[in-house]
Amino acid sequence: MRIPFVAGNWKMHKTVAEAVKYVKELRGLVKDVDGVEVVVSPPFTALHAAAEAARNSNVGIAAQDLHWEREGAFTGEVSGAMIREAGAEYVVVGHSERRTLFGETDATVNRKVAAACAAGLTPLVCIGETLDQRERQETFDVLDRQIRQGLDGLTGERIAQLVVAYEPVWAIGTGRNATPAQAAETHGHIRKRLRQWFGPDAAELCHVIYGGSVKPDNIADLVSQPDVDGALVGGASLDVRGFLEIVTRSRRAV
Ligand code: 13P
Repeated sequence: MRIPFVAGNWKMHKTVAEAVKYVKELRGLVKDVDGVEVVVSPPFTALHAAAEAARNSNVGIAAQDLHWEREGAFTGEVSGAMIREAGAEYVVVGHSERRTLFGETDATVNRKVAAACAAGLTPLVCIGETLDQRERQETFDVLDRQIRQGLDGLTGERIAQLVVAYEPVWAIGTGRNATPAQAAETHGHIRKRLRQWFGPDAAELCHVIYGGSVKPDNIADLVSQPDVDGALVGGASLDVRGFLEIVTRSRRAV
């Protein structure tokens, strides 16, 4: 049985002080909230302090990216081992902003996913089509390629522990979320491919969460769809009370 998984992606928001204040407040607010996994992803600068603030609580910490090498001459990059040592347990990989603004490809996503697993981190692997691709009816082809290439070489056991975030690019930061029916259809397709390519056990355990303009007032309809196992929340996660609403409304046996 998959427990709903809700992660706040802060993107390039919050200083160290702001991150610590948020996490301290959130850990108190969710201390008696069960039936949902709660994660926030601060920028690298606040990762360690946020992880310290979240220690021994229900709040997990994710980095927003990683490099695939352990160490080396890669100015500006941060490795999985460094992230793990800073106290995070999760890492976002292949977010569409990284793909479109920073040249990330399915090949680099694949290397990063492998590196994250090797470092003991759980990857949150982002996939999703652009508006053009959806209008040309290429959504499933795009997702198939992103899944096949991005997760190439992973065992079924790895897939079982993974979080796949379906984030249609046209829904990110636009206020235009996928409808519950669109999410259900697409998540169903993703689950079908995971089953075909990695086996029924892996597909059954892997979390497939939705991202793109998730808000307190649309989360319940989204997670009521059979294959929607939670959410990756951008803008609406920046306010701790709003994020708490999304967390509590995500609870259900999925
Ligand atoms: P918004 O929730 O701001 O649309 O962002 C979604 C997202 O990109 C989460 O990773």
